[in-house]
Amino acid sequence: MHVAVTGASTGIGEAIARELASAGASVTLVARRRARLEQLAGELPRAHVVTRDLADLTQAADWIDEAERALGPIDVLINNAGVQIIGATADGDVEDGERLLRLNVFTPLRLVRALLPAMLARRSGVLVNVASMAALAPTPGMTYYNASKAGIAAASEALRGELRGSGVHVVTVYPGIILTDMGEKGLQKYESSLALRLQPKGDARALARRIRDAIERRRPRVIYPRMNALARWFPGTTRLVMDALTPPLRT
Ligand SMILES: NC(=O)c1ccc[n+]([C@@H]2O[C@H](COP(=O)([O-])OP(=O)(O)OC[C@H]3O[C@@H](n4cnc5c(N)ncnc54)[C@H](OP(=O)(O)O)[C@@H]3O)[C@@H](O)[C@H]2O)c1
Repeated sequence: MHVAVTGASTGIGEAIARELASAGASVTLVARRRARLEQLAGELPRAHVVTRDLADLTQAADWIDEAERALGPIDVLINNAGVQIIGATADGDVEDGERLLRLNVFTPLRLVRALLPAMLARRSGVLVNVASMAALAPTPGMTYYNASKAGIAAASEALRGELRGSGVHVVTVYPGIILTDMGEKGLQKYESSLALRLQPKGDARALARRIRDAIERRRPRVIYPRMNALARWFPGTTRLVMDALTPPLRT
């Protein structure tokens, strides 16, 4: 099995690459920091390294042929690379916001579009899209990020329905706060509050195990930490809670 993981140089992507490699997969590792990718590749049985800026749409999908020559057809795509911007919307840089949208939404969809025809022809394959709880519980102070994660989650959920019976499975992942570089930096952007301290926090390895399980058992989605699943069933209450309990941004 050949798995391509975007954003594999650290955090959740690295944990997914390690988890699936431990299950016997060959992995293509995609991100910008070559040294980190090469170090990880050296620890895995069969890995191929690709360095790309995936926010640049001209290079977002141009690595697929090279990766398939190295490790065979891609059976599983993990659309994981992403960035987060937290701050007052009125002060935000529009270019940065639109770069986020390219990385978090346009590139994952390009990769799906590039790989799907061959997966359909083989009647097998898995597309995993790492969205966020921000898709189900949009957080004040993250305007572009919320837009990107709601966008990729909606596309991913609908694609699963479209592909039902085709042999190609789609998994949508909704992480809550995960203690990676992104998760830790995100927490620092808000004033400390009891609600934030009490919010459950997860770790990348446990999330990666759940994603592996969803791939193997063909589950439609992963919501982790599990308590966050309440947001899916009670969207109105979730909105009230997010508006009332999200602490102010640090200045
Ligand atoms: N941590 C959380 O609390 C949390 C919660 C919900 C959802 N998520 C989502 O989970 C995914 C992974 O997050 P994480 O916490 O693991 O974040 P992270 O620790 O910041 O890692 C992000 C990964 O994306 C890669 N990346 C960033 N910009 C890139 C670019 N322009 N081109 C190619 N690769 C790029 C980074 O590699 P390079 O810097 O080497 O390029 C890195 O491997 C993201 O989509 C994120 O939105 C995270």
